[in-house]
Amino acid sequence: MNRDDFPMLKQNIIYLDNGATSFKPQVVIDKMNEYYTTYSANAHRGDYDISYHVDMEYENTRDLVKTFINAQSKEEIIFTGGATESLNLIVNGFFEKNIEQGDEIIITKSEHASNVIPWFRLAKNKKAIIKYIELNENHEVTIEALQKIITPKTKIIALAQVTNVIGDERPIKQICALAHEQNIFVVVDGSQSVPHMKVDVQDLDCDFLCFSAHKMCGPTGVGVLYGKKELLEAIEPTNLGGGMNESFDNEFEVLLKPLPTRLEAGTPNIAGVIGLGAAIEYLNEIGMDKIAKYERNLREYLINKLEKISYIDIINLHSKSGIVAFNVDNIFSQDVAYYLNRYHICVRAGNHCAKILKSETGVKNTCRISLYFYNTKEEIDKLVELLADKEKIIAEMF
Ligand code: ALA
Repeated sequence: MNRDDFPMLKQNIIYLDNGATSFKPQVVIDKMNEYYTTYSANAHRGDYDISYHVDMEYENTRDLVKTFINAQSKEEIIFTGGATESLNLIVNGFFEKNIEQGDEIIITKSEHASNVIPWFRLAKNKKAIIKYIELNENHEVTIEALQKIITPKTKIIALAQVTNVIGDERPIKQICALAHEQNIFVVVDGSQSVPHMKVDVQDLDCDFLCFSAHKMCGPTGVGVLYGKKELLEAIEPTNLGGGMNESFDNEFEVLLKPLPTRLEAGTPNIAGVIGLGAAIEYLNEIGMDKIAKYERNLREYLINKLEKISYIDIINLHSKSGIVAFNVDNIFSQDVAYYLNRYHICVRAGNHCAKILKSETGVKNTCRISLYFYNTKEEIDKLVELLADKEKIIAEMF
């Protein structure tokens, strides 16, 4: 749906790598161009009309994000460089001072690098312990498995809401309920969920949620950190500088501004934030429930077709999201991607930054199809037609 809105879709291309980044509709591009061409001033600094205009647009995006994820207040919305930066800020700004030797951090083996490596370093520095939830036969998290590894030492559960290779949706609401009974913090990586479904942070009751604009029709280099207000207030800013301080003097006294600016030091990615606002308005107009339903149907259509090809092994047959990871028997995933590229079909191949997943699935690399609402059944037909001819793959893969 809405294909005419996307300049990139006017090319002869079938883009099935939306888990990596999405295309941008013209309204988002126009909105950012408008900033650069008609009111290109800094934010929160100028006492003149074009600077007021920037402030209005920038803060309007904060309001849009607040409503989009149903946060309680706009102070709970922090603009960052993306989900990775948000996760690093949580780990280094909050948990660095709220974790002790022997405390336990629970993650899974299917997390993306951004939700693994920062925890590894924290654990190493603080002598804390990383524990992995045992996943079920479909590589999913179950409440029973989580219950089994929680101990009085558990401090943090950090999970993607939807994972970027298996594409499974975790029961975050139940996880938060269970965690909070035991004073455990829940950090949610929403990179692969927020662009594709309605996410309500008050309903989930998660403590932190991170996501990136570029996977949801917005620009690269901008993202969001949501946190409950009292937790964000306890974050030690990892970036210090202009914009976030109220005052400082030659006796080294520094007074920080209140949220949200205290966590947004320096000139922000103004065009990016404004572009994110346009992306949210665009998605709202379509409707997140409609997007989720459309993608679910498209996934089913794709799975039904792929299942009929005997030499294709679908790694995440039971997931419901638009992410489908597969391999063609005895052919290296990157060779399959290269073959599809000959026909202008874009899929991602490799480990997809989930580098410990292989110890769970036993599969090191996969081809990943990740759908968005502008993909069509016709595109899937073309993809399947190309995959249905193994001899052709072998003949053309180099
Ligand atoms: N996290 C992005 C992906 O899964 C880059 O492809």
